[in-house]
Amino acid sequence: MLHRKMLDGVKWDDFQQLSLEEKAPYFVQSSGRPYHCLIAQQFDREALDGLCDLATRIRRIGKSKVGMDFLSSLLMHKRAMLYFTQPSTRTFLSFYSACQILGIRPAEVRDPSISSEMKGETKDDTMRTFSSFFDLIIMRTPLQGLAERTAWLLSNTERPVPIINAGSGKDQHPTQALLDIYTLARSFEKRGGIDGKTVLFCGDLARGRTVRSLSGLLQQYRGVKLIFAAPECLQIGEDILAQLKENGVEYEITEDFKGHIHEADAVYMTRLQDEWDKKPGESSRGYNPEDYYFAGEDLDRLRNTAVIMHPLPRRAEISTDCDNDSRAVYWRQMRNGMWIRSALIATIFGRDTEITNYYTLNIK
Ligand code: NCD
Repeated sequence: MLHRKMLDGVKWDDFQQLSLEEKAPYFVQSSGRPYHCLIAQQFDREALDGLCDLATRIRRIGKSKVGMDFLSSLLMHKRAMLYFTQPSTRTFLSFYSACQILGIRPAEVRDPSISSEMKGETKDDTMRTFSSFFDLIIMRTPLQGLAERTAWLLSNTERPVPIINAGSGKDQHPTQALLDIYTLARSFEKRGGIDGKTVLFCGDLARGRTVRSLSGLLQQYRGVKLIFAAPECLQIGEDILAQLKENGVEYEITEDFKGHIHEADAVYMTRLQDEWDKKPGESSRGYNPEDYYFAGEDLDRLRNTAVIMHPLPRRAEISTDCDNDSRAVYWRQMRNGMWIRSALIATIFGRDTEITNYYTLNIK
């Protein structure tokens, strides 16, 4: 369990110099529960197991009207701001749904051009404004570090509120990583869980934040192997490899995606993140996209017990011929986001024990 450090006790410049592991204790409560959710590195194995168990309880409780009534009574007195100034469908809707499940009333800003940011207001002032009205800020922005900055800023005001990072630049997407972990855990439930499994990542690993955050969380599991398959120009960052090395996690870098499919327990496909290209089309040159495509016939190379995942949105990374194969779990993966995000928010507000008690009494 992490021991809380206070964000209002550290200067912004000093805070920014810290490593991810050093930052993590600033984002938890004294009970060890997350207060903010900003980076994958703030979750240890115990926290991950706890969130997955809670997500399953919420999912089962939510099957009946009486269960939904219970869940939606838990945080009826709270309001949340969903500040999403980068395109989003699934993450936005699953957070919106998670708020509704727990009774939180959500509001949204999705288009900064109709907010006072256009009048020259600083980001700091916009965030302070949100905390005057809301009890939770869930944010997705192209700006790396804005979620951390907001957490620090508000901790130094009279109205600190929890901040959830729903995707920051090319850097982190911790709640996507949580739902990916939940999906892997459910998929391998009868096969000893995630420990000892091989995950094959494919696509734009250089700029895909989901793979970066998931690589962080997978380090919490024993004996996992990570294979990164991408053309050289899209290969995973050195910073991630350094973390893996430091934590003794086995990994392999390869340009041969198809040649590794047979080894994988999970294949994790991602799209080209060409919105970050400096010149149009620059990241699609120098390799054959077919080499990084999961075709219908590739199902034959895949183990019977393996799963195919994708954070979505999909372009052409996976043939629709795979969609009805029982190993294609990307639709379930998306829905898992709603349950694990509900579990995260309930834990942030300290309602996890109540949910577990209700579950033990009424469901189990
Ligand atoms: C991802 C993202 O925004 O990083 N989408 C998502 O949240 N499910 C992946 C992507 O956009 O490719």
